[in-house]
Amino acid sequence: MCGIIGYVGNKNAMPILVNSLKKLDYRGYDSAGISTLEDELYTFKDEGEIRVLEKSIPDMPGTLGIGHTRWATHGGVCKENAHPQLSGSGKIAVVHNGIIANFGTLRENLKEDGYTFKSETDTEVVAHLVEKYYKGDLEEATRRALKDIEGSYALAVMCKDEKNRIVAARKGSPLILGIGENENFATSDISAIIEHTNKVFFLDDGEIASITNDGMCITDLDGITIEKEVSIIDWTYKDVEKAGYAHYMLKEIHEQPRVVHQAVLGRISEVDASVKFEELDGFKPFFSSLEEISIVACGTSYYAGMYGKYVIESMAETQVKVELATEYSQYIPIIFNNIEKKLMIAITQSGETADTLVAIKRAKNVGTKILVISNSPGSTASRLADWTILCKSGPEIGVAATKTFTSQLTVLYLIALYLGQLKKTIGAHHASELIKKLKSIPQAIQNVLDQSDEIKRCASGIKGISSMFFIGRKNNYPIALEGALKLKEISYIHAEGFSAGELKHGPFALLTEKTPVVALCNRCNSYEKMLSSIVEIKARNAPVIAVADADDNEIKKYVDKVLKVPPASVDLSPMLNTIVCQLFAYHVADYNGCPIDKPRNLAKSVTVE
Ligand code: F6R
Repeated sequence: MCGIIGYVGNKNAMPILVNSLKKLDYRGYDSAGISTLEDELYTFKDEGEIRVLEKSIPDMPGTLGIGHTRWATHGGVCKENAHPQLSGSGKIAVVHNGIIANFGTLRENLKEDGYTFKSETDTEVVAHLVEKYYKGDLEEATRRALKDIEGSYALAVMCKDEKNRIVAARKGSPLILGIGENENFATSDISAIIEHTNKVFFLDDGEIASITNDGMCITDLDGITIEKEVSIIDWTYKDVEKAGYAHYMLKEIHEQPRVVHQAVLGRISEVDASVKFEELDGFKPFFSSLEEISIVACGTSYYAGMYGKYVIESMAETQVKVELATEYSQYIPIIFNNIEKKLMIAITQSGETADTLVAIKRAKNVGTKILVISNSPGSTASRLADWTILCKSGPEIGVAATKTFTSQLTVLYLIALYLGQLKKTIGAHHASELIKKLKSIPQAIQNVLDQSDEIKRCASGIKGISSMFFIGRKNNYPIALEGALKLKEISYIHAEGFSAGELKHGPFALLTEKTPVVALCNRCNSYEKMLSSIVEIKARNAPVIAVADADDNEIKKYVDKVLKVPPASVDLSPMLNTIVCQLFAYHVADYNGCPIDKPRNLAKSVTVE
C-alpha cells in the first residue's frame, strides 16, 4: 500500500507533488511527506492525511522532488516513520511502497558499519544502503543497494549531489513512469499524473529508471538498457476529480450506467449478436475445449467471482471453482492432470493485490493459463497473465469498490456468453436475447439511481442498531455478501451476508428488533423461498427491507420497507441490487459522519500478503 510520486521538470515541484499525493491518498493516509531539491535537500513530513500536510507545508524550492503517502507496515504512525526517509548524512532521500523482507539483518549490518537509525521503518535501510554505495552515481548506488535487498519495492530515490535526476526502481509493487513535456514522473498509479500526461512506461520487476526532465533511461539490475513501448492511457484528469459530488464513492456509484455500457462497448458483434474479445483472438480452440475454470480473487472481486461461477456454469456448462486468493496461496492443492484444459481467471480491479498475485504465480508455475479481469492497464497481474480483459471503468478513487464491481459482473456475464457460444451451449437466438437484456442494464441502473432519495430515506432509519444482515439466493447471494461488506467497511456497522436459507442454521440466534435484514428478492430468483425466509425472519421480530421488482405488489405485505428495482433476469438483477446496496451503505455512512472515501484501517490496493 502507500503511494509514491517523483517529479523532475522545470516547474516548482512541491505543488505538483502535493496534488499528486492527494490523488494517491486512497493507497494510504496515515502520514505523508515530500522532499525537494535545489541547492539543499528540503524535507517536510506530517502525520495524518495529505490535506493536513498541505496546510502546514512551508514553501519548498526545487524543480525535482519525491513524495509519499503512507499506510503503516513497519513502525507506528509518527513523523519519524513517515517518508521520505533520509540517509545518515541527509544526502539521500527515499520513498518506498512495499516491504523489505530482510530489513532486520540489513539494519543490524548497517548499525555495525556505524549507521544510526531514526525511524522504525524498513525503508530507512534503503536510504543508508544507497548512501553507503554512493560514489557519485545515484543510479549505480541504487542498483548496488538493490542487490542487498530482498522483498518488494517501488522506490523513488534522490540525492543532494544530483540536481537533475531521480532514480526509480520496482520489484513486486507497481511503478509507472509518466512522460511529459520537459518533465517526467514516477508514480504508483496513473491517476496521480493523468492531469500532466497520459503517456507512460510500465516498469517491470527488476528494472531501474534514471529520470531527468528531458528523458529517462531504463536498465536492469546489471545495467543493461531496456527498450520499452510507450502506452497511451485513455483516462483524463476529469476522471480523477469529484465533479461536484460530496464523495468519490457517490460519483463512482453514479457513473455505473456509463461504466456498464463501456464494459460492453466493442465486445458485441452487431452482425451476428455474438460476444467477441479482441484480447482472446486466436485462442478459440483453447477456450472452446476448456473443462474447468478456477476463479481467484479477494474481497469484493471474490464476490464478483462467485457471481461468475453462476453465470459461467449456467451459460457455458463448464465447471467453475471460486477460491479466495488468500487461501489459494496457502493450501488449495493444484491438480496437474489435464492442465491444458484448465484456466485460472484472476479478478482484481487494481491488478496489484499481493494475495491474488501469489495465487496467479502459483498456478502459472504449473502451467495453468491465466486470464486476468482488471481495471488497471499495465498492472502486475496483467503482466503475469496470458490474457487481460480490462473493465474500462476509469479510475476508482473511493476505497470501497463500486463501479469496478459492476463492471466485473458485466465482463463475467460477457465471458459466460462468449464461452457458451464457443461451446455451443447457447444457441444464436438465446444469445441474442441475453445480449439484448444486458444492453438494457445501463438504463435500468439509471432508474435505480433516480430513486436515490428513497434509498437515502430508508438509510436514515438505520439508527441505534448493532448489526445488519443481507440475504439473497443463487446469483444474489454474492450480492448479499457484497452489500454487507460495503456497509461494514464504510459505516463501521457490523453486517453479514448470508444465503437466505442459511440464517436458520445459526444466525437466527442473532435476530432481534434491532437487527434489520435486507432481503434481495427479485421474482426471477428463488422468490418463493425468499418469501419463506422473510416470514421466518419477521417471526423473530427483525425488521425487513426488501429489494424487489418495481412491479411486485405483493412483497409489501411481508416486509417493513420495499426498495424497488426494474425487473431483470436472474443473471442481471444482481447488477441492479448492487446499486441499491451501494447507495444504502453510502447514505448510512454519511448519516453517521464516516470518512466514506477513506475508511479507517483500509487501503485501496492491498499490496502486502
Ligand atoms: C472492498 C474492496 C476490497 C477489494 C479487495 C481486492 O470494497 O475494495 O475488498 O475488492 O481488496 O482488491 P482488488 O480487486 O484490487 O484485487
